[in-house]
Amino acid sequence: MRRRHAGVLLILQLQIAVAACCCWGLEVGYYGATCPDADAIVRQVMERRFYNDNTVAPAIIRMLFHDCFVTGCDASLLIVPTPTRPSPERVAIPNQTLRALNIVNAVKSALEAACPGVVSCADALALMARDSVALLGGAAYDVALGRRDALHSNSWEVDLPAPFSSLDDTLRHFAAKGFTADETVLLFGAHTVGAAHCSSFRYRLARPDDSTMDESLRCDMVGVCGLADQPAAADDAMTFLDPVTPFAVDNAYYAQLMSNRSLLQVDQEAATHAATAGYVAYYAANPDAFLQRFSEVMAKLGTVGVLEGDAGEVRTVCTKYNTS
Ligand code: HEM
Ligand SMILES: *[C@@H]1O[C@H](CO)[C@@H](O)[C@H](O)[C@H]1NC(C)=O
Ligand SMILES: *[C@@H]1O[C@H](CO)[C@@H](O)[C@H](O)[C@H]1NC(C)=O
Repeated sequence: MRRRHAGVLLILQLQIAVAACCCWGLEVGYYGATCPDADAIVRQVMERRFYNDNTVAPAIIRMLFHDCFVTGCDASLLIVPTPTRPSPERVAIPNQTLRALNIVNAVKSALEAACPGVVSCADALALMARDSVALLGGAAYDVALGRRDALHSNSWEVDLPAPFSSLDDTLRHFAAKGFTADETVLLFGAHTVGAAHCSSFRYRLARPDDSTMDESLRCDMVGVCGLADQPAAADDAMTFLDPVTPFAVDNAYYAQLMSNRSLLQVDQEAATHAATAGYVAYYAANPDAFLQRFSEVMAKLGTVGVLEGDAGEVRTVCTKYNTS
């Protein structure tokens, strides 16, 4: 009797294990035999860079989002244009978001030195994002590996949500990638770190009676950015998305949203929209739940639309296809 019970339990556990990894075919120990130190190599380079310049960590987290939301997490974002293959995703994405590209190359060189041709750039980026979250005080999480790198990168495939999109459209956009409203609110939580250029939100400043923006925040931002009719030079100015703790993965951002102190319009709408306000309030009140769930959702983000098996290639240099 007891034995049969154990058998049933074992089957149940197997089913859970299968359910947990069936859909992507990625595995945590993927490079166990072929590049056992891959995790440590990535972490070492990331740590060194981060202690020199902590702005790289938010930039890498954002880079993972952009890569994964355009044709999947396949390192297509990293391709630099060449005369024969001129239209990469990068052309369509603001270049300031790509200042982390040289770090990707540094990480990849270290991986190539240890295990040539083994670890894909898509996997390297997923590990770098995980390390970025941890370096910024977020919860550690496992990254399932085995992604392959794309053989194409096209600007016409870039369809990222814009900061001025409606939340309804944005929720549909995220749902199409497999994310619930709860998970979308958690992913917005990435704006608990890093910075935004005035060009991303200054159009809001020109609305004198925009009650969705706290008046003192608006005044501060006009001070930083100027109003829309002033010279475009101020577009280069930057300000922290979460001015309270700009380099900490924590739930402070949700409290900012609830006091109408978000720079980005779509995030702000999440605080009051019926489909999301409850989640915003929940994560504002539950720091540990946010930390745990944010890392789970980052792991999930890294599995969107991956290439596996024989698809694509393992690039030697992340910014170039192996054959031009
Ligand atoms: C509707 C969805 C989203 C919109 C409209 C959006 C928009 C933006 C904008 C406009 C900026 C400022 C860029 C600049 O002015 O330089 C930004 C920064 C950032 N975003 Fe998002 N974002 C979205 C979702 C996400 C997601 C899902 C993540 C990651 C999980 C993310 C991570 C970041 C990070 C970390 C930064 C700071 C980057 C840095 O400091 O270098 N964002 N985002
Ligand atoms: C971004 O691109 C613009 C125009 O293409 C260029 O003037 C600027 O120097 C670039 N900035 C960075 C940081 O590369
Ligand atoms: C935030 O904005 C909403 C909608 O404009 C308003 O009803 C609310 O009172 C504001 N909340 C705070 C804390 O300012």
